Amino acid sequence: MRSMKVNLDKKTLSSHEIRIGNSILDRMALLIAKNHKAGRYIIVTDDNVGPLHSAKLIAALKTAGLTVDMIEFPAGEHSKNIDTAMEIAEKLLDLGADRNSLLLALGGGVVGDMAGFVASIFMRSVPYIQIPTTLLAQVDSSIGGKTAVDLPSGKNLLGTFYQPRAVFTDLHYLTTLPEKEFKNGLAEIIKYGIIDDEKIFSLLENNIEQVKRKDPALLLKLVEGCCRIKKSIVEIDEKEQGLRRILNYGHTLGHAIESESAFSIAHGEAVALGMTAAARISENVGYLESAECKRIEDLIGKAGLPGRIPVSLSTRGIMSRLKTDKKKDGDVVHFVLLKKIGMPFVNGGIDDKITSAVIEGMK
Ligand SMILES: NC(=O)c1ccc[n+]([C@@H]2O[C@H](COP(=O)([O-])OP(=O)(O)OC[C@H]3O[C@@H](n4cnc5c(N)ncnc54)[C@H](O)[C@@H]3O)[C@@H](O)[C@H]2O)c1
Repeated sequence: MRSMKVNLDKKTLSSHEIRIGNSILDRMALLIAKNHKAGRYIIVTDDNVGPLHSAKLIAALKTAGLTVDMIEFPAGEHSKNIDTAMEIAEKLLDLGADRNSLLLALGGGVVGDMAGFVASIFMRSVPYIQIPTTLLAQVDSSIGGKTAVDLPSGKNLLGTFYQPRAVFTDLHYLTTLPEKEFKNGLAEIIKYGIIDDEKIFSLLENNIEQVKRKDPALLLKLVEGCCRIKKSIVEIDEKEQGLRRILNYGHTLGHAIESESAFSIAHGEAVALGMTAAARISENVGYLESAECKRIEDLIGKAGLPGRIPVSLSTRGIMSRLKTDKKKDGDVVHFVLLKKIGMPFVNGGIDDKITSAVIEGMK
């Protein structure tokens, strides 16, 4: 089992370990029993992951001598709202949970964001542990302590920064992950290669077929590499004041494309389109060499992610959604652009005409 520490503000005592491995369930249960003592443990999961993976987790925790209960909610982004948060809080009370209880978030990013959000406010906060089961959650959402639910007017608009006590990443969970969810995670892994690590980028370029076949050794290397990048960024900028914004590479335009398509384009596909668009904008304004832009487009294509925006999506519609992105400051849309692979920067001065032309050029 690999281990790394997320070093955060000493005053808040929020530093914690991320442990990564393949089939680590029994050791995870023992470590939870030893290092994270609580009166009772409540697994929060969704109704896809629960039936697949909760029985073994419950058995392992019980073998380690712990009192365990479970709360399940319907899978999917549509559950990530305040009503589900309130239902979970009511169920916690029914189960007799108190401030001496600990929540275990077993699932993808929706479960992690939801369980983290509830943990941050239930009885003025209880501890929680992330056990991510999607590739996206393993390399991204389980790290960094951003928790949230959606509001009718937008995603993640109600949330907190609240760090987990630990993250346990078991690659074994990926064996049951649907292909389209795997691709969502793969898009994020490519993003880490683009924004931080030329080595990860070339590892992907040279081994993309093995990655798609979920080669365990390669996946372990990639997941560990991505976790190191994310945790280093979070250590410097826990509350997303500056550096952490580079994690949004491809996401600003990606979110606009995703919502303009009324979510018919999957998140990972939209991020892939956003990453190509950001590379092309970088090339267009003279920051990124054409050869580097082509490497990015080629890798995205070889990964099986799209490079073309459907003609049916209106460029004007995408542009107007960009302007309502909550990450913009005032009227300026901040793009994460590239000087080269591994060297991103934030730019708030891109002319709308350039962005529109790049979108049109990708149709
Ligand atoms: N907090 C953060 O920093 C952060 C970062 C990125 C994304 N997010 C959030 O994460 C969410 C997306 O996360 P996601 O892509 O993991 O989505 P998700 O949690 O909805 O999971 C995707 C689907 O896969 C299923 N699933 C999960 N694990 C499985 C497994 N091992 N086997 C079979 N099925 C499994 C789920 O039930 C769901 O249907 C969004 O709400 C997004 O806002 C948060």
